Amino acid sequence: MTLALVGCGKMGGALLRGWLARGGHEVFDVLEPGDLPSFAIDPRVNHFKTATDFVEKARPEALFLAVKPQVMDPACEALRAAVAPQTLIVSIAAGRTIESFQRIFGVDQPVIRAMPNTPAAIGKGMTVAVASGGVSEEQKAWVGAWLGVTGRLEWVADEALMDAVTAVSGSGPAYVFALIETLAQAGESVGLDPVLSMILARQTIIGAAALAESDPGTPAESLRRNVTSPGGTTEAALEVLLDETAALPDLMIRTVAAAVARGQALGQKA
Ligand SMILES: NC(=O)c1ccc[n+]([C@@H]2O[C@H](COP(=O)([O-])OP(=O)(O)OC[C@H]3O[C@@H](n4cnc5c(N)ncnc54)[C@H](OP(=O)(O)O)[C@@H]3O)[C@@H](O)[C@H]2O)c1
Repeated sequence: MTLALVGCGKMGGALLRGWLARGGHEVFDVLEPGDLPSFAIDPRVNHFKTATDFVEKARPEALFLAVKPQVMDPACEALRAAVAPQTLIVSIAAGRTIESFQRIFGVDQPVIRAMPNTPAAIGKGMTVAVASGGVSEEQKAWVGAWLGVTGRLEWVADEALMDAVTAVSGSGPAYVFALIETLAQAGESVGLDPVLSMILARQTIIGAAALAESDPGTPAESLRRNVTSPGGTTEAALEVLLDETAALPDLMIRTVAAAVARGQALGQKA
């Protein structure tokens, strides 16, 4: 199948980088009005700067859409002539529903809606995807291989879950960065120099994430228990952090619920 990418910014660029790194002989048609990043200067990349040029020459079997949600409608309208009824539309735009693409391209257009997150830029992303009724298992497997180049990929069967997915893995990196900030502030509150406290907090999150990655079969709860000696300092800390009334579990539920609510509100406006 021939692949095209529309929008080669942060997220589209991460995808293209992964596609090129796979090392195959596939050719990628890329529509991007600006210059391409240096890694994309490659004989396997056809760069189109205008939709007119793209529509004239490109006939992709799968069209990956990676422009900002607010410019998605005009971008799609300009590409209609390059899209056949069987062309697979793959969108990574936040909040854009499958139905919104079928309004433009046709009610039976096969569409995959995917939600990546920012670590995709370094190949450590978490992408979740959902397919419209017309997408075959074979097409899902094929697209999955191309979407999965930025990290891990999971599928959901129900599009309504995409707001929940966005609230956990889409927005999740920001929660972890907030954790670094608050841990560093807490270190200052017990006497650490701000610079040192930030180094400790940041490296601790990096190290803990790497440990979790190196041991995928061990549940997070066990990883936590492994570093919690009975009667020790970590146990004393976790009694506060995971305390039923005050702390983290309830805060995280409210955090994720707020993101879901905002996602639903934005979805109604789209
Ligand atoms: N970044 C993330 O963490 C993230 C996470 C999840 C999902 N997403 C989704 O990924 C999509 C892209 O986000 P991004 O952060 O990668 O944005 P971005 O860096 O701004 O990239 C978008 C690219 O598309 C180009 N573009 C604009 N209009 C176009 C058109 N009509 N045809 C072709 N290309 C066009 C832009 O060029 P100009 O700069 O010249 O306008 C830019 O290079 C969004 O829909 C977003 O919701 C992003």
